[in-house]
Amino acid sequence: MAAGVAIAYAGFCTAVIGRHRRRHARAGSLAQATAGATLVAYASQSGFAEQLALQTAQALRDAGEPTQLLSFADLEAGCLGHCRQALFVVSTTGEGDAPDSASGFARRLTAAAGPGGLRALRYGMLAVGDRSYANFCAFGHTLSAWLQRQHAQPLFDMVEVDNGDAGALRHWQNHLSALSGGAEIADWEKPRYADWLLHERRLLNPGSPGSPAFHLALVPAAGSVPAWQAGDIAEIGPRHAPAEVERMLAMLSLDGGTPVRCDGVATTLAQALATRIVLPDAHLAALAGVAPQRLADTLPPLPHREYSIASLPEDGRLELLVRQARHGDGRLGLASGWLTAHAEPGAAIALRIRANRAFHPPADDRPLILIGNGTGLAGLRAHLKARAAAGRYRNWLLFGERTAQHDAFHGDELAAWQAQGVLQRLDLVFSRDGGALRYVQDAVHASAGALREWVAAGAAIYVCGSLQGMAAGVNAALSEVLGEEALLRLGEQGRYRRDVY
Ligand SMILES: Cc1cc2nc3c(=O)[nH]c(=O)nc-3n(C[C@H](O)[C@H](O)[C@H](O)COP(=O)(O)OP(=O)(O)OC[C@H]3O[C@@H](n4cnc5c(N)ncnc54)[C@H](O)[C@@H]3O)c2cc1C
Ligand SMILES: Cc1cc2nc3c(=O)[nH]c(=O)nc-3n(C[C@H](O)[C@H](O)[C@H](O)COP(=O)(O)O)c2cc1C
Repeated sequence: MAAGVAIAYAGFCTAVIGRHRRRHARAGSLAQATAGATLVAYASQSGFAEQLALQTAQALRDAGEPTQLLSFADLEAGCLGHCRQALFVVSTTGEGDAPDSASGFARRLTAAAGPGGLRALRYGMLAVGDRSYANFCAFGHTLSAWLQRQHAQPLFDMVEVDNGDAGALRHWQNHLSALSGGAEIADWEKPRYADWLLHERRLLNPGSPGSPAFHLALVPAAGSVPAWQAGDIAEIGPRHAPAEVERMLAMLSLDGGTPVRCDGVATTLAQALATRIVLPDAHLAALAGVAPQRLADTLPPLPHREYSIASLPEDGRLELLVRQARHGDGRLGLASGWLTAHAEPGAAIALRIRANRAFHPPADDRPLILIGNGTGLAGLRAHLKARAAAGRYRNWLLFGERTAQHDAFHGDELAAWQAQGVLQRLDLVFSRDGGALRYVQDAVHASAGALREWVAAGAAIYVCGSLQGMAAGVNAALSEVLGEEALLRLGEQGRYRRDVY
């Protein structure tokens, strides 16, 4: 009986948790789609994109987000004008062509959407394809370029899926979780984590008016340091704080020391629960008396969190720059709390590296303009290390934080790079110091002439950091400085890349 209860709960717990965790809970379902619903539109030739669209719509619905699922066959460009938010899940077929169901829509893409364009539409794009074809994810790119020319606003950069790549799909899920107000959406395919040891943790901004930010260094628990490139991402398997596990065990009236098997490994119930999605208290209490092994088997694993890697394999360690997130009730964020507070020095951290091709370094020695704020310095720092190692010195960093006194992350290193000529130009902007330039986008404006010169000399622009505020502000500033059409072209040429979150 108790086991049956556990299974039943596991079936809907993700949905319950999603709803419970949402900041702005809203009711709705696919069937009850309304004008305010998020549209999930798919174009699929052989069914993969359709299946992903179904999973996407289901995940949003479970998180309480009103959602409407439509094939491109049933989609008119004009309908998009009435749509607030859309997610497009599209494949490419033939020689870079749209799937048959979208061919009519694709033919009409030369036309404008309407007099006002699509200014009210915010959209995300999941493009599935295969890199062994000459025109990788071509339909996704065509559609995205058309949407941007109609003034639709991307919610985040296009996620490209090469041959079903599970890492790219987890990245998409991460976006879905953010879109639905922080809902825990269990990974469709759990990362195959390896153990890394927490080797160093150092507070980078003591006395800052902002939240604490930490420099972390991790080393592999076994074997040699694996390969990765600047721009790649560490997927972390978070763990609950020990106090949270104790609370769960008390509610369940269970002994944390009970041996169980979890993810194929012999462990204790306490260790197993630390990696599982927590049910809301009322539901957790109903599980009291369930067999410990049954709990370990049925509670879904916590979804991963992503962090930009701030070092290179040549450093012999994987470094991160992690900001402590905090919930409204004072609890630390799940993964940032685990990494910056709960994990003891030397603790094993579950980690997997995800290649992030869209943010890899340029293949040639063109100049590089790096723009970011806050923990966005992590990804930019890996790029600067790679450029220094390759002897490519035409680099310009524009970086924004709060105060020069407390928030100059890795300030000595940046100054050394400047002295060595690795950084030809360094613009640091501090929003709380009362200077003329407050944010990094203001520095973009203030350097308009130099920016145009660097871009004319072939520079690529890489942006890393906050999606809220910074990314849109920098995009608007670049658009004004370089021109909207020129910025779109830079994006299409791979010379404007973003890793924002
Ligand atoms: C590509 C990418 C790269 C990234 N790189 C970095 C990086 O280099 N450094 C870095 O610090 N971060 C980075 N992030 C962000 C990181 O992945 C995490 O999102 C961040 O650390 C917060 O996760 P958390 O588990 O600590 O917090 P969570 O527990 O997920 O909470 C995050 C926030 O969501 C809100 N929230 C969640 N649930 C609720 C709820 N029930 N009620 C109210 N509010 C809620 C809270 O405001 C909270 O502060 C990156 C993200 C992406 C996608
Ligand atoms: C005949 C054929 C042509 C394809 N052409 C491309 C292509 O030009 N570019 C690309 O990125 N992928 C191409 N692909 C790969 C598909 O996009 C990929 O298999 C995708 O997962 C299919 O998704 P779907 O089942 O939703 O159509 C092609 C696949 C087939 C079978």
